[in-house]
Amino acid sequence: MHLIIRLSSFLAASMAIIVLFPSLQSFPPAEAIRSSRLIGNSILQFSYRKSSYFKNAEQCTSQKISKKATVCDPSLIHIAMTLDMDYLRGSIAAVHSILEHSLCPENVFLHFIVSDTNLEPLIESIFPSLTFKTYYFDPEIVRNRISSSVRQALDQPLNYARNYLADLLEPCVHRVIYLDSDVIVVDDMSKLWTTSLGSRPIGAPEYCHANFTRYFTANFWSEKQFSDVFDGRNPCYFNTGVMVIDLVKWRRFGYSKKIERWMEVQKNHRIYELGSLPPFLLVFAGHVARIEHRWNQHGLGGDNVNGNCRDLHPGSVSLLHWSGQGKPWLRLDSKRPCPLDAVWARYDLYGPSL
Ligand SMILES: *[C@@H]1O[C@H](CO)[C@@H](O)[C@H](O)[C@H]1NC(C)=O
Repeated sequence: MHLIIRLSSFLAASMAIIVLFPSLQSFPPAEAIRSSRLIGNSILQFSYRKSSYFKNAEQCTSQKISKKATVCDPSLIHIAMTLDMDYLRGSIAAVHSILEHSLCPENVFLHFIVSDTNLEPLIESIFPSLTFKTYYFDPEIVRNRISSSVRQALDQPLNYARNYLADLLEPCVHRVIYLDSDVIVVDDMSKLWTTSLGSRPIGAPEYCHANFTRYFTANFWSEKQFSDVFDGRNPCYFNTGVMVIDLVKWRRFGYSKKIERWMEVQKNHRIYELGSLPPFLLVFAGHVARIEHRWNQHGLGGDNVNGNCRDLHPGSVSLLHWSGQGKPWLRLDSKRPCPLDAVWARYDLYGPSL
């Protein structure tokens, strides 16, 4: 089963490249269609358009960064995302939105974390102006630490890759913005990039009105050895889909290991129900630098059970996040979109080339 999934992912990626580069087709199109039908319709429809070429505006202070610029260039804005076949369309739309709203898009460096398929050629062909690097995340690192959650998609090993950015990225990268694949950015990421974290290791919007108790089980709260962790802290919920991470502090204080320790506790004691998020709350809640709420207008996917439509929270919007069960690309395809999915659709690059 696993092999079939891998094989079809590979074929899908190959097809996409062929669709993007008609010159690579060594056979007449009619024949291509016929042969791909044998594999399935979904592959036949797998294609992405090339994005525009995004150039730095005149006022960008730094030198034009060429494709050969090293990852250590201090003028870069580092953004990390995962790439997998299930969320690929989302990741591509997210990157598209980042570039579109950047005054200095050539200063943006994308760090893509992948676990199986080689998607580098596809990304290169869709975003000819993007500077990026892909990193392999070995699912075995977390496989035995994952306990099942309320929603299967939350249990994917790649979902835990955000915990290992400090190890994966080059030591010269001192700060990174982590983004989930179901976001759209409608503001310049350089504003988020330059946000001060003070003495804190990570920054994220905090939600102190959310009932924090709900994120952990009764078992957690009744065991003093666990719940003691919040003593002397004023913990608030935050969402791990948008985080500014100080990688220097992360490496110095070994936060990856601290998070792993809580995942071990979870395996034996069931202290929470969600996937990769609660260990972050255990380690960081109450010690998070406050980022403005406009940088994570989350919950647009609806709740984890029904995936019903949700509206934006009051206030301004720099980033929309379809966290929750419903994903805009699936709802659009099923012709049952939520009103805000139209915003997402503006950045969608999936579909036949024009
Ligand atoms: C928070 O949630 C817990 C568990 O569901 C509940 O017992 C408690 O009454 C809630 N607190 C508030 C202030 O709503």
